[in-house]
Amino acid sequence: MIQPFIKAFFDEPTNTISYLVGDPATHSAAVIDPVLDFDMASGIADTDSAERILAFAREHGWRIEMVLETHAHADHLSAAPFIKAHTDAWIGIGSHIRDVQKIFRPVFAMDDLKADGSDFDRLFDDGDRFAIGDLAVEVLHVSGHTPADVAYRIGDAVFVGDTLFMPDYGTARADFPGGDARTLYRSIRRLLSLPDETRLFMCHDYKAPGRDDYRWETTVGEQRRSSVHVHDGVSEDDFVAMRERRDAGLSVPKLLLPSIQVNIRAGRFSEAEANGVTYLRIPVKWAKRR
Ligand SMILES: [Fe+2]
Repeated sequence: MIQPFIKAFFDEPTNTISYLVGDPATHSAAVIDPVLDFDMASGIADTDSAERILAFAREHGWRIEMVLETHAHADHLSAAPFIKAHTDAWIGIGSHIRDVQKIFRPVFAMDDLKADGSDFDRLFDDGDRFAIGDLAVEVLHVSGHTPADVAYRIGDAVFVGDTLFMPDYGTARADFPGGDARTLYRSIRRLLSLPDETRLFMCHDYKAPGRDDYRWETTVGEQRRSSVHVHDGVSEDDFVAMRERRDAGLSVPKLLLPSIQVNIRAGRFSEAEANGVTYLRIPVKWAKRR
């Protein structure tokens, strides 16, 4: 089996890891989960993070042919359109993005959004296969964190998105609209039924307590032995109770509102107004009855 070339790019402001995954034989490559830099307070968007990926690809002769999203992220904006504009790459995501679009279209009154996934170039179903050069990619639908999560299995590596975090940190939250802890558990068990030596690449790392460096690579065997949330022996009911208890105490991600409205359009902002300025929408909810 050909093994992929993998280069990780860590974005500290959002704790996100983007990847360039390449086929050493043909130098075709994919970018997984690229981050658009965005400062919520000032409204300033920047492409430094994505430019670093493009510069690396240029320097090392990788031809980026696709951008793969593991899901519609709620904690960072996607730089997929920027990568696409500079490489001609297509953008792919799980086909259940339609469900996520249906959930959030009314939340942001996005009347112009077609909730059919057509903002993306390719939609993947569970078990779909495609190739990065000569490297085979298999899509695994691993919902639970959101309805549309997919993992990409490439050689002995799986890019797990927001299903698992490093073993000492556990698992992703399952309390976003359409998320479900029980479904997440089943998706995780499916990932952990892969061979023990399978390498797993995380989408996020937050440094577990007591650890002073960021890490994003582990294995199925390591997760099964030592994941604080889902090591072998943790039952579905125990997991669901733990996850729901934990999720109840989590705060809303800083970039949730801008991220969702942009990412369900494949990373595109809505059209600029007549003054040439692009705006984001913040639905206002009153905490108390007025
Ligand atoms: Fe996420």
